[in-house]
Formats: sequence, C-alpha cells, structure tokens
Amino acid sequence: MGFEIVSLRARDIEQAHALIHKVIRNHPSYSPEARRFWESYYTPAVLRKHLHDTNWMFLVARQDGKVVGFTDIMWFEGGVTRSDWTIVDPCYRGHGIGHALMRAKLAVARKRGCHKIIADSIVGNTEGERLLKSSGFKKLARLRDYWFHQDYQLWEKQL
Ligand SMILES: CC(C)(COP(=O)(O)OP(=O)(O)OC[C@H]1O[C@@H](n2cnc3c(N)ncnc32)[C@H](O)[C@@H]1OP(=O)(O)O)[C@@H](O)C(=O)NCCC(=O)NCCS
Repeated sequence: MGFEIVSLRARDIEQAHALIHKVIRNHPSYSPEARRFWESYYTPAVLRKHLHDTNWMFLVARQDGKVVGFTDIMWFEGGVTRSDWTIVDPCYRGHGIGHALMRAKLAVARKRGCHKIIADSIVGNTEGERLLKSSGFKKLARLRDYWFHQDYQLWEKQL
C-alpha cells in the first residue's frame, strides 16, 4: 500500500509525537542541548493546541495505517514563510515521502499567498540538504555559531 499526505488529526497526535521524538533523539547532527530543545518544541500539548491554528499547519504521511512522516508550516506577515522540520520514519525513507511532504508544504504556502520560503539545515545533515536542494531551494550562506552554537546553512526558494 502507498502513502498519503494529510493534515494531522487529533487521534494521530500521539503517533506523530512518538515519530518526531524518535528521529530527533537519535539525530546524529544535533548536540544534546539542541535535541532537548527540539523535543520540547513539538509536545503532544503543542500539537493539540495548534491543530486548528490558522497560522500553523501540521501535515503527516500515513502508510500501513500509521503516521510515518511529519512536516509543519507557519505563516508570517509579508508573504515569507519558514520551512520547519520534515521527518520520515527511518524504515520508510528513500521512497519519496520526504519529497511528497515538502511538495505538499510548498503547495500550502503558495495557496496562502506566500512568495518565498526560507529554511535552515544543520551542517552535516546530508539527507536534509539533499531534500532541500532537490526541492529547488538555493543555498544562501553558512550561518556560523547559530542555534545552540552549531553551524547551519541558510536556504531560500521563490514560490
Ligand atoms: C530528510 C528526510 C525527511 C528525507 O526523507 P525521505 O522520505 O527519505 O525522502 P525521499 O525519499 O523523498 O527522498 C530521498 C531520496 O530518495 C530518493 N527516492 C525518492 N523516491 C524513491 C523511490 N521510490 N525509491 C528509491 N529512492 C527514492 C529521492 O530521489 C531522494 O533523492 P534526491 O533527493 O537525491 O532526489 C529523512 O531523511 C529524515 O527524516 N531525516 C531526519 C530528519 C531531518 O534531518 N530532516 C531534515 C531537516 S528538517
């Protein structure tokens, strides 16, 4: 069975949260401090609180009756938005789910009138960089001593 990209539903919050935590907790590029921060960024309470927030949207990939991917998008004034995390369960990677989540996110941003999306990726995250590059993002600069004193790459894409 293939996957589908849908909006996060209340009953899938626990599964989405478990996936996000599993991936962030084991991500080799982030310092322990950064992992602790990102784990606390997406708690079930935060996901629940913003589920119907018109300025924040959570998308998930569902396959085999479970949540296997996650991404989110937030709107800012002035037509510029920021691509936050895109996460796929390690067992389901390399089959186009990451790209499909990104495509869905870009479509939502365009629909909301955004003309530009920006992203940052931690240096050393080759899978993250690959996803951004093949989704049409252009690398702008290296951000030294950025979040939690780690180096990042800054990206942008015209929508
Ligand atoms: C980055 C991440 C989301 C990518 O997820 P993914 O589902 O493996 O992504 P995709 O399968 O769409 O694309 C990965 C590669 O597999 C290839 N691929 C796509 N469909 C495929 C298929 N059916 N069979 C084999 N390979 C395929 C793609 O071509 C792509 O390579 P390319 O980018 O050079 O074109 C995933 O590695 C991840 O969760 N990483 C940890 C979290 C993270 O660091 N996120 C990014 C920063 S926020």
